[in-house]
Amino acid sequence: MSFAKTKARVKALHKALNEHNHRYYVLDDPSVSDAQYDELFHELRNIEEEYPELLTEDSPTQRVGSAPLESFDSVVHAVPMLSLGNAFSPEDLADFDRQVIERLDSPEQITYVAEPKLDGLAVSLRYENGKFIQGATRGDGATGENVTANLKTIPSIPLNLRGKNLPEVLEVRGEVFMSHAAFKANNERLEANGQKLFVNPRNAAAGGLRQLDSKKTAERQLSIYCYGLGELRGASEPATQFDMFAWLKSLGLPTNGEVARCQGHDACYRYYEALGKKRSTLPYDIDGVVFKVDELRLQRELGQRSRAPRWAIAQKFPAEEVTTKLDSIDWQVGRTGALTPVARLEPVFVGGVTVTNATLHNIDEIERKDVRVGDTVVVRRAGDVIPEVARVVLDERKKGARKVALPAKCPVCESAVARADGDVVARCTGGLGRCGAQQREGIKHFASRRAMDIDGLGDKLVDQLTDAGLVTTYADVFTLEVDAVAELPRLAKKSAQNLINSINASKQTTLARFIFALGIREVGETTAGLLADKFKTLDALIQADEVSLQGLKDVGPVAAASVAEFFSHGNNLEIVNSMIAAGVAFPPPAEQASTDVEQTLDGHTYVLTGTLAEMTRDEAKALLQQLGAKVSGSVSKKTTALIAGEKAGSKLTKAESLGVPVLDDAGLKELLRPLSP
Ligand code: IVH
Repeated sequence: MSFAKTKARVKALHKALNEHNHRYYVLDDPSVSDAQYDELFHELRNIEEEYPELLTEDSPTQRVGSAPLESFDSVVHAVPMLSLGNAFSPEDLADFDRQVIERLDSPEQITYVAEPKLDGLAVSLRYENGKFIQGATRGDGATGENVTANLKTIPSIPLNLRGKNLPEVLEVRGEVFMSHAAFKANNERLEANGQKLFVNPRNAAAGGLRQLDSKKTAERQLSIYCYGLGELRGASEPATQFDMFAWLKSLGLPTNGEVARCQGHDACYRYYEALGKKRSTLPYDIDGVVFKVDELRLQRELGQRSRAPRWAIAQKFPAEEVTTKLDSIDWQVGRTGALTPVARLEPVFVGGVTVTNATLHNIDEIERKDVRVGDTVVVRRAGDVIPEVARVVLDERKKGARKVALPAKCPVCESAVARADGDVVARCTGGLGRCGAQQREGIKHFASRRAMDIDGLGDKLVDQLTDAGLVTTYADVFTLEVDAVAELPRLAKKSAQNLINSINASKQTTLARFIFALGIREVGETTAGLLADKFKTLDALIQADEVSLQGLKDVGPVAAASVAEFFSHGNNLEIVNSMIAAGVAFPPPAEQASTDVEQTLDGHTYVLTGTLAEMTRDEAKALLQQLGAKVSGSVSKKTTALIAGEKAGSKLTKAESLGVPVLDDAGLKELLRPLSP
């Protein structure tokens, strides 16, 4: 064959293979057998091997994965990738619809587009003049990771768009997910290789998309459905969300076949109920329905708040429930001695993971639900929350099943268990001096990020250290030696040395952190901060009697009593003194930032919610407090403003209903301006 003819043949093979791919993966309507497809594919690969100059990046052979990357580059999204507000009830949906109508001052019902909410990961695909040139994860919405090579392995993503007059730039947003069939195939492959199985399709898809070696991504057989636009240049936008689906489809992009138009919130809710019924028969996981205002012109008019659009909402399906057998109930002892009943269950798959433990909250809850050992129980799990026992299946109760009683003695140290009048919580009375569980949990808290912030001293290591008897009190942490630590299983000398280094580094701390770290009951970060501000030195705090503590504004009587109690125990004082002797120190107050900053936010109360773009909520709280603001946990009419990050939920709804102003990341930045250098 002449070179010109070979070149023409390559072109024809591209065209044929792309067409077959499209029919198979997008239209679900193949016109050739797998064997015929493979034959064409191999012919192309052979030509490309012989004539490397004919191999192009958009060749259908280039989907199988390319050379592994060292790391992912970041991609700044030309148009930010938003998140969605959530609705959980028909009322939430009606509220959303009412707000849309009010904002648009619309005399008629609003038309929405309803779409299954796929349980996967959002990505952005960038096409320039029809060519797929880049794909990125959502990341924090502003910046994601360049996962182009991985996305190319998804056969339904066209490497070239179909049709003529293609836009100069088209960014398409969609959800990458793993179908049930692919999930099954993957787990069969893993099992055959004796490897650990994937827990659920979502995790498997997320992990697959973040492989540095795209050959590994290819193995996972991911899918995608497109549902939105980012940047668009050189083409006019469709008039509606519904038309957009038709347009994307005509360009060869995969879209979900369940999408429908609904007029008004009643119709939306009917769609939601119908899809809920169909959910278990769909070939992929969904966790709700997304409703979007159909007309793009109206979407623009509505705009967005913080990171979610005002023109769309996700109506979530309720938490998944399954039944299983309750084998036993164990009582866990927490840092403050509180006993929490934990149900040990026969393993059951619910909400995407295998669950073996579920919380029963407290003894009142056990009595209220009348849960007994051996019962068949309904277990519920939604999203990332801790699974809980929802109720008992009474019909299946065995005769003679006995009621569960609160243990009289602590299961760990055998001290008496006491329950104050009116308190739902029962506690071990052994205290830090006697109870191993309280010591262990106390040390975990002591080392934690917001307390002493000892890098590397996580929960697992604390368990190891306490099991080995190396640490019983907080003070023991500062007497640890490298050699002893290095003898623990799975700890090399180097990590032991690192641990000692971070313990030493943690000694320079603040009085507020130290007070918080002591784990005194009722003394959270805020109270610890107040006490530090008020007393300035540890000695002054130790000397303070209950009456002067009671006199403090903003420190409640229970906390005051608890502080006085804590320092009245010789044992506690001894531990505190040994830590000071070991070098734990607080810089004098003058060096602390909060002293000479102008209190521009004095008298104002803020509430923080959702995920902020530039800092954690704790950091934002500390900074707002430096400026004299109060930061509260719940929204009321007195709230100056709600600062809402991404995934803001009920607090945002509440603020909006009370007419409390809502600030986004930029608004927060503005408030904190006096602190910038
Ligand atoms: S639209 C401007 N549509 O849900 C709105 N999102 O909770 C941005 N998701 O980050 C998203 N199916 O990962 C949209 N049909 C759908 C979706 C969908 C799943 C995911 C997506 C998004 C998350 C928000």
